[in-house]
Amino acid sequence: MSAEAPPVAATGGGPSGEAALAAAQAEAEATLGAVVDAAGLERWYRAQLSASGAVSALRKGIGQLPLEARKPYGAAINALSTTLTTAFEARKAQIEAAALEARLQAERVDLTLPARRPRVGRLHPLRSTLREINAAFQSMGFAVYDSPHVETDEYNFQLLNIPPHHPARDMQDTFYVANDGLAGEAALDAEGAPVQRVLRTHTSAGQIRAMRALGANGTAPVRVILPGVCYRNEDITTRSEVQFTQIEGLMVGRDVRLSDLKGILLQFARLIFGGEQAVRMRGSYFPFTEPSVEVDLRCALCGGAGCRVCKYSGWLELLGAGLVHPTVLRNGGYDPETHRGVAFGVGLPRLVMLRHGVDDIRHFYRNDLRFLQTFR
Ligand code: DAH
Repeated sequence: MSAEAPPVAATGGGPSGEAALAAAQAEAEATLGAVVDAAGLERWYRAQLSASGAVSALRKGIGQLPLEARKPYGAAINALSTTLTTAFEARKAQIEAAALEARLQAERVDLTLPARRPRVGRLHPLRSTLREINAAFQSMGFAVYDSPHVETDEYNFQLLNIPPHHPARDMQDTFYVANDGLAGEAALDAEGAPVQRVLRTHTSAGQIRAMRALGANGTAPVRVILPGVCYRNEDITTRSEVQFTQIEGLMVGRDVRLSDLKGILLQFARLIFGGEQAVRMRGSYFPFTEPSVEVDLRCALCGGAGCRVCKYSGWLELLGAGLVHPTVLRNGGYDPETHRGVAFGVGLPRLVMLRHGVDDIRHFYRNDLRFLQTFR
């Protein structure tokens, strides 16, 4: 219904007035239902409820009605006005809510960020390789035996057939430890001479301890590895450090021979370097083995043909080894007539360098993450 609609009173009021009001309400409600936005609401309000709107126009017709009809007609108009106002407010709220919802959807902002991944650490390559080595020897029946870092001169040298002033000591100069600095350790030996203490120069010192602790006075077999840090007075170079880990191996029994050693080391090489491997033995000298050998690993890079890495020899020097010297066996409590032993000693950094093609031992101790992260 428009503002120009004819006044209801022109029809004479009474029932026809009520009919006009009902028609006006129906029309107003229908048009309100079709309103979809704020501008439409505004137009509808002006057309229906404003001073110039349809309801006002109807109200003006009241003067043409007979007196008795005016009061009910006025009340009906008021009711109509109230009904339409309520409907308007409801529609307005609906439209506003829809508009807000549309805006929220349109202006939605994604405030999430991908989370920062925590940096996951890993074991140092020396440590992780040592664990693999321990596991490799454990799979061959070796136990892991721990021995002291601070050793006596006796265990580190003398019992291994290296008497005072033996030239072999020159290669293993080390750090001597003040005698009175050790709690609970005797300062004098049985003869009353001061006990010399050193930071062990090699894990071989533990051989005597393992034989004495596990050998049951030379009656029981022993099969151990002794991993541990050793200390030497060395110039720090690409190949040597003052502190490095060795893994010693010792197997003593009634029927132990050099071929056992070769088999053990070949299997070890397969487990640590993977795939098929080959080892060879070359004659060498150590005071605590007789015979002594150097064990080489066939160069995996060239397959033995010769390359820069193996200095065109086809072989890489892996470790020192041999049959345990009779004097050493005796010092461990065994009778060399009935028992024999094989032993070997390998430097952990050297092994990891061979395995991963690292050309400078100092990389391992620099804590440079760029280096360490290349070991996955
Ligand atoms: N102890 C020797 C070193 O540090 C390595 C070694 C050689 C250990 C021969 C052994 C062995 O057990 O049999 O140079």
